[in-house]
Amino acid sequence: MSGAKTKPTELRNRRRSAGHGCWDQLILAPLWVAYDANLGTLLRTCDAVGACLAVPRTDHYRRALEVGDTLRGRRPCLHWVAPSKPAWIAAQRAAGKRIVAVELADGATPLRRLAPARTPTVVLLGHEHNGVPDDVLAQVDECVEIPMIGWGASLNVAVAGSLVAYRLAGLS
Ligand SMILES: C[S@@+](CC[C@H](N)C(=O)[O-])C[C@H]1O[C@@H](n2cnc3c(N)ncnc32)[C@H](O)[C@@H]1O
Repeated sequence: MSGAKTKPTELRNRRRSAGHGCWDQLILAPLWVAYDANLGTLLRTCDAVGACLAVPRTDHYRRALEVGDTLRGRRPCLHWVAPSKPAWIAAQRAAGKRIVAVELADGATPLRRLAPARTPTVVLLGHEHNGVPDDVLAQVDECVEIPMIGWGASLNVAVAGSLVAYRLAGLS
């Protein structure tokens, strides 16, 4: 460790020489996430780990991403979820993708045991108050829970999604 701080632009140039493409390997899908700030944070995580972001095609999500996009136009690939959330999830499954929910649930895989994704994977994230709907949770291939020892009932959804994204991307 030299102690000299590297300039952000230099760091970025070392890491990535080209813009994003759609790799379609890892898709973060905050389909029920309501708060703009959380969507912006998840967009940055997608950029960092090389994932795509999938969101419903509504004015709310469009606006939220415009406000939260601090990547100056070089944002990751966006998938619009249509015609409905269940239909989109079914289409992803039919295309051979693994559907993983991030949720506090009985029988969930603890984060430390989550292996990097070897097949294309969709990661579902729940609403800030209501979580992932039960009927959706009942149909996922795997549910991942991040163990907690504090007083809080749950983590911020963007933090939870980012931790899982790093594991699935094989970066942590
Ligand atoms: C604030 S939590 C929602 C909690 C909600 N009160 C419930 O009972 O489901 C919002 C979302 O963050 C994710 N999340 C938060 N903490 C988590 C944890 N410890 N393990 C897994 N997912 C978590 C889940 O996707 C959850 O749906």
